[in-house]
Amino acid sequence: MRKKMNFNSNWYFHMGELEQKVEKITSKTGTCGGASNLTREEGFEYKNPRHIADVIGTEDGNPLYNIAERLEGIWDMVDLPHDWKIRQDYVNPNSYSGMYDKEGQKGYLPDGVGYYRKKFSLPKEDLGKRIVIEFEGVMRDAIVWVNGCYIGSHLSGYTGFAYDISAYLNYGDEGENVILVKTDCTYEEGWWAEGAGIYRDVWLYQLDPVHVKRHGTFVYCKDIMDSNTKVMIDTEIENKLNSDCNVTVRQSLVSQEDQILYHQEKELTVGSLCVGTISFDFMLENPILWDLDHPYLYKMVTEIVRENEIVDHYETLFGVRDIKYTSQGLLLNGKWIEIKGVCEHQDFAGIGTALTPDIIDYKLTRIKEMGGNAYRSAHHPATDYLLQACDRLGILVLNENRRLDVGPEGLNDVEELIKGSRNHPSVFMWCMENEEFITLLPPGKRLLKELMAYAKKLDPTRLFTVAGQFAKGDSEYESIPDVVGFNYDSGHAKARLENYPGSLVMATEDASFVSTRGVYKDNRELGVCDSYDSGSYYEKVLKGSDVEISSGTVGGASSLSNLVYCWNHSKHEVPDLGGIFIWTAFDYRGETFPWNWPTINSQYGAMDMCGFEKDVYYYWQSVWMDQPMVHMLPHWNWKGKEGQQIHIDVYSNCEEVELYINNESQGRKKHTKGLITRWEPVYVPGEVNVVAYNDGKPVAEDHKVTTGEPFAIRLSKIYSGKDNDLFKAEIVDKSGLLCPTADNHIQFSVINGDIVGVGNGNPSSHEPDVADQRKAFNGLALVIIHKESDNITVMADSDGLESASISYTNLTQSEN
Ligand code: GAL
Repeated sequence: MRKKMNFNSNWYFHMGELEQKVEKITSKTGTCGGASNLTREEGFEYKNPRHIADVIGTEDGNPLYNIAERLEGIWDMVDLPHDWKIRQDYVNPNSYSGMYDKEGQKGYLPDGVGYYRKKFSLPKEDLGKRIVIEFEGVMRDAIVWVNGCYIGSHLSGYTGFAYDISAYLNYGDEGENVILVKTDCTYEEGWWAEGAGIYRDVWLYQLDPVHVKRHGTFVYCKDIMDSNTKVMIDTEIENKLNSDCNVTVRQSLVSQEDQILYHQEKELTVGSLCVGTISFDFMLENPILWDLDHPYLYKMVTEIVRENEIVDHYETLFGVRDIKYTSQGLLLNGKWIEIKGVCEHQDFAGIGTALTPDIIDYKLTRIKEMGGNAYRSAHHPATDYLLQACDRLGILVLNENRRLDVGPEGLNDVEELIKGSRNHPSVFMWCMENEEFITLLPPGKRLLKELMAYAKKLDPTRLFTVAGQFAKGDSEYESIPDVVGFNYDSGHAKARLENYPGSLVMATEDASFVSTRGVYKDNRELGVCDSYDSGSYYEKVLKGSDVEISSGTVGGASSLSNLVYCWNHSKHEVPDLGGIFIWTAFDYRGETFPWNWPTINSQYGAMDMCGFEKDVYYYWQSVWMDQPMVHMLPHWNWKGKEGQQIHIDVYSNCEEVELYINNESQGRKKHTKGLITRWEPVYVPGEVNVVAYNDGKPVAEDHKVTTGEPFAIRLSKIYSGKDNDLFKAEIVDKSGLLCPTADNHIQFSVINGDIVGVGNGNPSSHEPDVADQRKAFNGLALVIIHKESDNITVMADSDGLESASISYTNLTQSEN
């Protein structure tokens, strides 16, 4: 029977090359040696090498005796997922004479290699089962060895891979096993900071020789109607026996409430060492549809019976939903849905790319709170957990291929993308490429055509798009995808629709607006960007400022008015675009445009690296959410600016807005959703309020107050997950008001838990994220903890400030 075991804990990690060489492939199997074998302390006295030594008569010359020399000192114990990139120090490119990451694409974190090693034992009874190890993602150029044997390599850091290692293993008293994984990030795969190491989950499977193949089910629905739908299941069954095998395959359709709705079984003969495919279909009466408000999931349970025994039990979650993309945009179950999308890389404060399920849930929750309903996994396949979470939370996913490539690896990667995620109802379309220069040339178009043809065979049920940039307007290129995706469209979509009526177009990426949370003036030295509309950075450069922008892909940077343009363009001028995907919801490491060093992360996010909202977050709320809202910027602490004019910008989805300074109205103005209303009052300390009205009635309010000096820390639990909780530390004045420019140093500590990491959203902070302390940035800092028991206390201390602590169990919480 199938057993899926999490294989994330108790790995050793070594940064850099190993002193003791590990051969990739040797002349004799099993003699790769070094850290891919046991040490003497680990029980090297296993029988196999000794047996060989006895037979060939020498210990010295026996290459199997190339054991791991030492583990202590050079190896750290780690649990996965793990990103070794963020554990290094940032490197100032100016201290290098070479071209070290001048443009900060990689966030000034050095490349290199890192090794992971794990020892494990298997009981004797496992012999005869198939033991498979699966890596969901290793960044990158992974090489895997088991017990001194080279197993395989996998280049891409964004696709999963699995090896059947049954034959290489020791069982029972044959001895222990060692798995060694090399990760090498010397070469990059994308143009952003990609993390490094075994940053996604690892699983060990124990399988019967006859089992459902990896990614071996495809469940989809045909002719979806309210009254019924046809559920189709294609299943691949792998027979690793040396003989043909007759099996009974059972499929049971199970409701979310765990009721078996339908059951069918069929016989199948699978040839020895072959894969057999078997198809089923059910008519499902009155299906409960998956949609954004009610993401209902069904389960298909596949069982294999051989010799009267159930030898495999495999579950596939799926949803019944009808997705169409039309000239009006997206129809989900016949209902028009405006795509309120975000593009995202996988990164976060404190942990880098090693996103835990709780951090993924937190990020998705924040996107929903901003009003978003769609996620573009840019520019690579999403993790299985992220897709599960989107299925559960009702978020649409545009899942994306990394490279435009039809070589063996390229095809394998696209197969991983599609077969690994085609059962997820959240995935509504596939994106085959992002802004590939080569699409301008004939080979680029041929590559795209071939890749798309291959991919369509793997999923004939969904449409395919591209995130087009350079070949926009090239009709040959635009005729390849089902839906022409435009990044930063400024007229090409309209031209496409005029010249080729009936074309389908979508806005795949828009609005690269850079801003720093709580900052209202550019500052090159501090590496921070203005949250107002201060114009495009490209224009600033062209006007001859001292901003150095090197060639290479440093990303664009629009002004806020461009962002206003983007939304209005897709919403009103070319509604066929279906909505937009903004670049991006969260800041991420790398792409340090426009200032580069000292900035180490991008500033495109509507939220910073910690998920703390910037002002622009509220712009998206104002255009994406229906409930009345209003937001004003900036803060109201402008000591030294008394008597000077200050811009106040207001975002709202209401009809009118009115500003009050110290209770005095500054006038009521008509407001248009999607535009920005501005006042330029003279600064006087005190309180500034903005009130929004619909039908003449006040419906929403925002305010800022001039605060006193930092006095205390306020700690609040902002997210509670299964294993991780997230805490926000705020520096507040005596009245409990957030001090909007405070940068006090905070020391965190936890009882009955561990600190996973910290962050503060400062794009130029060079403090380590894997630490228990951090300076606040513009009043805020974040600490992520790992819970160890039910009674947890989190504390935050800072010199000269009142400390804060929160004690809680899973049920109650007390603060002081
Ligand atoms: C886009 C690109 C993204 C990012 C962005 C920055 O053109 O697709 O990956 O670089 O620019 O503005």
